[in-house]
Amino acid sequence: SMVIKNVCCIGAGYVGGSSCSVLAWKCPDIHVHVVDVSHDTIKQWNSHNLPIYEPGLDEVVKECRGCNLFFSNDIDRAVREADMIFISVNTPTKTYGIGKGKAADLQYVEVCARKIAEVANGPKIVVEKSTVPIQAAQFITHILAANTKPGVSFQVLSNPEFLAEGTAIENLVNPDRVLIGGEESSGGESAMEELTWIYHHWIPQHNIITLSTWSSQLTKLASNAFLAQRVSSINAISAVCEAIGADVSQVADAVGRDSRIGSKFLHASVGFGGSCFEKDLLSLVYIAESLNLPEVARYWQHVNDINHYQRTRFGQRITASLFNTVTDKALAVFGFAFKKNTGDTRESPARCICSQLLEEGARINIYDPKVERQQIMNDLTSTKATSEPERIQKLIHIYTDPYQAVIDTHAIVILTEWDEFKSYDYKKMLSVMKKPAFLFDGRKIIDHEAVIKLGFNTHTIGKKFTPNTL
Ligand code: NAD
Ligand code: UDX
Repeated sequence: SMVIKNVCCIGAGYVGGSSCSVLAWKCPDIHVHVVDVSHDTIKQWNSHNLPIYEPGLDEVVKECRGCNLFFSNDIDRAVREADMIFISVNTPTKTYGIGKGKAADLQYVEVCARKIAEVANGPKIVVEKSTVPIQAAQFITHILAANTKPGVSFQVLSNPEFLAEGTAIENLVNPDRVLIGGEESSGGESAMEELTWIYHHWIPQHNIITLSTWSSQLTKLASNAFLAQRVSSINAISAVCEAIGADVSQVADAVGRDSRIGSKFLHASVGFGGSCFEKDLLSLVYIAESLNLPEVARYWQHVNDINHYQRTRFGQRITASLFNTVTDKALAVFGFAFKKNTGDTRESPARCICSQLLEEGARINIYDPKVERQQIMNDLTSTKATSEPERIQKLIHIYTDPYQAVIDTHAIVILTEWDEFKSYDYKKMLSVMKKPAFLFDGRKIIDHEAVIKLGFNTHTIGKKFTPNTL
């Protein structure tokens, strides 16, 4: 068998960048070349200011970059030199044509396949790491086969990524499992052995699962759908709790104690966000529809519908509690990222709730420890977010100090679960706010009894407090 010496990765985003950094770190005997079409992204990977924030990533990149880890825009060269090529490009929801709003857009994956076919001059193992619909490996195989030159051969593997943002390095170093999907042929099996050999540098054999490409690709969509479904399940229960006076945290704790259910991913919130859950749910819905399985499609569609309901419900509750109008009122928003420990705002519930409040005419003062000012502005004033960008822009103020952000506001709205929000001096904040002052905790992270005692009219998900008369 050929021993892999050179690996290349097309796509230097969250997945390509962090997974290959860890690969280089754990496999000093392998030369790892990460390439991208974006010049800005590559420039940042080669600088002190990496394009993504992940705890622990800086250290790994510092140790390996220039030794066996390289970032460049020279895709042709990287592909030519590599024995194994990972594809980690984006596969967003289609915004046009057939399957618009649901199907995964495979145009970037296809461009990669054609590029590989064009420049390859020897045998290559092509590893599909992007999340793709179930036929994608077959499509890639077909494109490669139709363009193969003499002396060149290809094997296509599926190797979906399960890292979560904010904990990417930890997840990559110590994954619950790694999936390697391949063709049931001798060529397929030896390619799977090569990739297994790479992962075996740091991952125990029993955590490396080999399976068919179909099963592998479907497992990735199913895993994200199951995780999203748990969040929507507890969020649906949170609405019932608010209506009847139960406490969703107590319910979640008690439900999670059943070892068959387990305690993780039962935290009720303002809704799930991130680049994966909605996209992959919709992709699964589209696949089910295409396979003429409408009941299955409706089931997973509803998991996503509940998430939209949860966000909207919270936004409406804010306006309703503030005497049915937020027009011209200043509100402080804590957190804009879709979860803590990341600067990523893709599909963040904060975007949606801020847009809802801006639509009502509120002025919002936003503070997030990691998200850049320009990112927040783009997210809230893009054509996707509003038809009146100039009016909306005037209503948004971005702060780097949360204590400044709350001055003269009617309410604090917590939309991301950053740890630092737990230890703020809310008494000090209250003293500079308009009265009555409100606090809406969309992430259930602060001590509600304590802020109620201070005098905040407090609202959270899945629990009703009696109105504060202080
Ligand atoms: P991303 O947008 O952060 O990165 C994708 C990169 O690919 C971009 O830098 C883009 O410039 C580059 N690219 C696009 N077309 C290219 C081409 N033809 N040649 C070279 N580079 C090209 O995306 P991501 O978050 O890293 O996700 C990548 C894939 O991994 C997606 O399919 C996603 O569903 C999946 N995934 C993401 C996560 C996550 O947490 N972000 C986790 C698991 C799986
Ligand atoms: C997810 C999957 O976890 C990961 O395996 C996959 O590879 C990519 O998609 P990610 O989106 O980065 O990862 O973060 P995750 O921790 O799954 O959180 C997703 C969203 O759900 C966040 O907005 C988070 O705040 C929310 N969430 C999560 C809850 O509201 N409650 C929970 O109990 C857990």
